Amino acid sequence: MKALEGVKVLDFTHVQSGPTCTQLLAWFGADVIKVERPGVGDATRKQLIDVPGADSLYFTMLNHNKRSIELNSKNETGKQVLTRLIETCDVMVENFAPGALDRMGFTWERIQEINPAMILASIKGFGPGKYEDCKVYENVAQCAGGSASTTGFRDGPPLVTGAQIGDSGTGLHLCLGIVTALYHRTQTGKGQKVSAAMQDGVLNLSRVKLRDQQRLAAGPLKEYSQFGEGVPFGEATPRAGNDSGGGQPGRILKCKGWETDPDAYTYFITQAAVWGNVCDVIGKPEWKDAPGYATPPERLDKLNEIFDAVEQWTMTKTKFEVMDICNPLNIPVGPILSMKELMEDEGLRKTGTIVDVEHPERGTYVTVGCPVKLSDSPVEVVRSPLLGEHTEEVLTQVLGYEGEALAAVIESGAVGDVRKEAAE
Ligand SMILES: CC(C)(COP(=O)(O)OP(=O)(O)OC[C@H]1O[C@@H](n2cnc3c(N)ncnc32)[C@H](O)[C@@H]1OP(=O)(O)O)[C@@H](O)C(=O)NCCC(=O)NCCS
Repeated sequence: MKALEGVKVLDFTHVQSGPTCTQLLAWFGADVIKVERPGVGDATRKQLIDVPGADSLYFTMLNHNKRSIELNSKNETGKQVLTRLIETCDVMVENFAPGALDRMGFTWERIQEINPAMILASIKGFGPGKYEDCKVYENVAQCAGGSASTTGFRDGPPLVTGAQIGDSGTGLHLCLGIVTALYHRTQTGKGQKVSAAMQDGVLNLSRVKLRDQQRLAAGPLKEYSQFGEGVPFGEATPRAGNDSGGGQPGRILKCKGWETDPDAYTYFITQAAVWGNVCDVIGKPEWKDAPGYATPPERLDKLNEIFDAVEQWTMTKTKFEVMDICNPLNIPVGPILSMKELMEDEGLRKTGTIVDVEHPERGTYVTVGCPVKLSDSPVEVVRSPLLGEHTEEVLTQVLGYEGEALAAVIESGAVGDVRKEAAE
């Protein structure tokens, strides 16, 4: 049995943050019914198109294992259908712009009237306060949540990161809130509202930088390269380039082939416990006990010299050779893997973290499968639904519409052009 089998989710999400959350719920076994605007659907279906006429990878990679129903939630019949969905489902997830659900007529109070056990889960850009009405996208959240001000090099501008910590990160936070609320509901029978703001989610993921902000009051941050370089600290946590977030000095260093391969680099940590091994590997055994090099505090003002020496060595090896040599010696290193390398990684394919998916419009594509593995709840990644693929199925099987009532809903125009058979 799947962990969330029997849980019905009214998925009113779009773009990336909300769909990340509901995709996880679907992977864990919930029946996720994605409600989309007739004829249009989630805007990402037609964004960043690579195969003309087919749903984009942006959409397909965020909406696996869901059913799709087209429904105009602003039309009277559409509202009736939505009301029945709220009655029937356990969880409703949405990430509309602030106030959109209220404008449709479905306030939290109204939703509770319809289904007191409902868990309503929402993502917004900001929590309550002066920015609560703003629309927010990924990079806005990264900037407003403290990630951008602490990412990049000290002498360069703030940087956003490629990992979608604002969108997908907040989706993960919301998912945890939902399963927690489901657990609470099994104890009390009561639903509740679950809210996750993107700014809060990014700040949570940037927690160590808020830690450092407070440590600044006690003096300079000694593990930051800028300390060893004699550069004074300002009032706020600075950008620290590729320094490691913990106390152990680390950098990204060039490997063999860096001149032509933009990803021929390794992360290299000169962990105190294996300093002797580092010295032996890079051909500097004399540094093991030399005054000024033997202990971590002594090395702080020599990190540039030390990492230059390490890099002279890593440049003679490929990033994988560095891995093979250093790992047995307990020296923590990590190859900079490209998306191409990850897509072809045998290990990730074996565990189902990278999977091939068949799609009727696009053929085969590669996606990231469920990154969390439950031993008794294995995940089979099922392709994303076509727009409205399950409209009739949901109306009849989930909501019990039949005969004239069903015909009336279809004729009202509330559910778009109903597909008679699921496309395969
Ligand atoms: C992402 C975001 C900026 C997109 O904004 P947008 O494209 O203008 O989309 P909205 O959410 O405002 O929805 C647009 C309208 O479509 C309507 N709509 C959506 N689904 C509908 C349906 N099935 N039937 C009828 N109307 C529908 C909404 O009610 C809204 O109408 P309104 O403006 O009259 O209230 C915004 O939704 C947002 O800030 N979301 C919260 C934060 C978030 O998740 N951001 C990250 C996204 S990855």
